[in-house]
Amino acid sequence: MERFDIIVVGSGIAGLSFSLKAAERGCRVAILTKKNQAESNTNYAQGGIACVFSSGDDFELHVRDTLKAGDGLCQESVVRCIIEEGPERVEELIRLGVAFSQLEDGRVSLHREGGHSKRRILHVQDLTGRAIEQALLHAVAESPQITMFEHHLAIDLITSHKIGRFAAEQNRVLGLYALDVRTEEVKTYSAPVVFLAAGGVGHVYLYTTNPSIATGDGIAMSWRAGAEIRNMEFIQFHPTALYSKTEERFLISEAVRGEGAVLRNTAGEPFMQRYHPSADLAPRDVVARAIDAEMKRSGATHLWLDISGRDRDELREKFPSIFAACERQGIDISRDRIPVVPAAHYLCGGVAANVDAETNLPGLYAAGEVACTGLHGANRLASNSLLEAVVVAHRAARAVTGYLSNDYPDVPALPEWVDGDVRNSDERVVLSHNWDELKRTMWDYVGIVRTTKRLERACTRIERLRQEIHDYYWNFKVEPTLLELRNLIEVAALIVECALQRRESRGLHYTLDYPEKRGKLEDTRVVQGHDA
Ligand code: FAD
Ligand code: SIN
Repeated sequence: MERFDIIVVGSGIAGLSFSLKAAERGCRVAILTKKNQAESNTNYAQGGIACVFSSGDDFELHVRDTLKAGDGLCQESVVRCIIEEGPERVEELIRLGVAFSQLEDGRVSLHREGGHSKRRILHVQDLTGRAIEQALLHAVAESPQITMFEHHLAIDLITSHKIGRFAAEQNRVLGLYALDVRTEEVKTYSAPVVFLAAGGVGHVYLYTTNPSIATGDGIAMSWRAGAEIRNMEFIQFHPTALYSKTEERFLISEAVRGEGAVLRNTAGEPFMQRYHPSADLAPRDVVARAIDAEMKRSGATHLWLDISGRDRDELREKFPSIFAACERQGIDISRDRIPVVPAAHYLCGGVAANVDAETNLPGLYAAGEVACTGLHGANRLASNSLLEAVVVAHRAARAVTGYLSNDYPDVPALPEWVDGDVRNSDERVVLSHNWDELKRTMWDYVGIVRTTKRLERACTRIERLRQEIHDYYWNFKVEPTLLELRNLIEVAALIVECALQRRESRGLHYTLDYPEKRGKLEDTRVVQGHDA
């Protein structure tokens, strides 16, 4: 058994930023990450980080844009806090070596994205996430307080109630089990604090912009341990992923529309003006629904994004990764239109946490995409997630050290993982078949436009898959695909449950059965997982 002060799950912007801050405060930190350390949604972020950074902008405008996108469900105090503390955190990223793109006169270059009334997105060309990830990883490598465990997949939290200790007290976190993917051994990690930064859930859908790590492990794990989960119905579909005949969906950043690109339908006509006064720079939910409607009307497999006619070298300099990805498909974006479709991109809901990352389960903290703090409400404003992650991570370090300095019972010896009488899986086809079925079910029945009947259908299918994987889980040796599929099934069930709870259309949740908004503003909540 390995003991630390804090176990961090995830090495994206939230996990790395928090680890650095906690280490500065003297904590011994273990970071567990399930693939290589850079593999995260963070690493693929393109557009940038939204932050008030120019004299023509102010906090009030950023707050107003965020609240408007959130469609009534943002918590205003959280929004203000994150936006007002943003510039200080961005300055820290610059000090860590993130070289944000500059204009010729030396001022920082600011992108514009949908829903923003000002140019306020700091970026490193279209490779912002990679630049941030590299700077943070470099700093983490230099900290003697932090140990990185790559290829370690967290399986489940260990709580006091789960091991039958302190039953009279409130349930709290004592550590976790993780699979060392390379040795296939399950290890026990003991710590009074687990900081979850395990990212999103994109792979619960057939088409997603997310890398393969986004399988909702953090949410499923928290839910099983009794943490409150909130607003899972709010899945953000990015309007413009590059269409290809495979399931791969490379993101075409909204910043391309910010530079003047226009969406066109199959007849070649621009259409966004018919859906919203801000046309191509309308909030993301509006653009995704408009594309969905145009595709359904024409039966097309994709629509077009057009930035043709612009200088080739300028486009290649501004958007090197998009330029190259399109070129690999034989598309020269300075000449050709780009075929685009929506794809699952971001989860606005998640583990309910406050702006200090505290959850309802003592010892469990959550930040970044895995958490639902109240910043995004029913729809995230573009590029607000990197901002949220750095601000909440900073505040969480203070909150966690406060928790650690208070009196709480010592972490007892934890039981080791018992594999029992299990054998190696020789029926892997069941896993791939069920994963495929789950992703298709979610795409077809729980997509951009929903109905109660489709949600109920999804519910029945997910329940059957859950039963099948439950049996599989108890009969076979654990392996990454099985663990991830088990988590995705839990996540799918949570999304559907929240979607059924919301009897209205708001933000990212649109249902034909309740097309209007209700007067009452409420979050959807699910509690009491298996172990609670
Ligand atoms: P991630 O960066 O996703 O990191 C999660 C980490 O957890 C990974 O290291 C993963 O391996 C690890 N992990 C997961 N499960 C386990 C487990 N069971 N055990 C151990 N480790 C685990 N947002 C913006 O604000 N601006 C943008 O421009 C932008 N562009 C984007 C472009 C793309 C293509 C995508 C996919 C997202 C984009 N986003 C953007 C969203 C943003 O990148 C993410 O929301 C943000 O990076 C999430 O950071 P995170 O630290 O919470 O999680
Ligand atoms: C993009 O660059 O369009 C993605 C930005 C985001 O998801 O916030």
